[in-house]
Amino acid sequence: MLSKAMNKNLNEQVTWEFYSGYLYLGMSAYFQEAGLPGFAHWMRIQAQEELSHGILFYNFTLGRGGSIKLANIDAPAAGYKNTLDVFEKTLAHENAVTARINKLVGQARKEEDFATDIFLQWFVSEQIEEEENVTGVLNKLKLIKNDGQGLLMLDKELGARTFTPPPALMGSGA
Ligand code: FEO
Repeated sequence: MLSKAMNKNLNEQVTWEFYSGYLYLGMSAYFQEAGLPGFAHWMRIQAQEELSHGILFYNFTLGRGGSIKLANIDAPAAGYKNTLDVFEKTLAHENAVTARINKLVGQARKEEDFATDIFLQWFVSEQIEEEENVTGVLNKLKLIKNDGQGLLMLDKELGARTFTPPPALMGSGA
């Protein structure tokens, strides 16, 4: 059984993951409008991943006998200066996600809620990958600077990204 405090925080994480999806969907639109369909595709996959994370928290909360209270999802801040700006904001957001996951792990351990601790470990690993992926794109953008040719090549590369659902959702259609 989840504690009241843990249930509340897991609910907040459902909202946060859906907010992340909303944020990346907005970034996808920015790239689509800027004529960078590969970047737009990459961000759309990123949004899809976040929605799947939200569903994982949702399923886990209900599965542990908790209650779900869906909250309002904030509108992401509008307007980006350029491609680099978008990826700097993406990395900052992922760093904030990592901090939230770490805090949840800390709470689970304090409460000796080992089931939640185990559940969260997948997210701990996922965050390493998320930060690594975003940092990789960011580094390439820094190398490219204002070279249009380089940007178009990177656009092509990012356009090949595919969505792999988290193992816990494989075959669920979520
Ligand atoms: Fe749900 Fe990008 O972490």
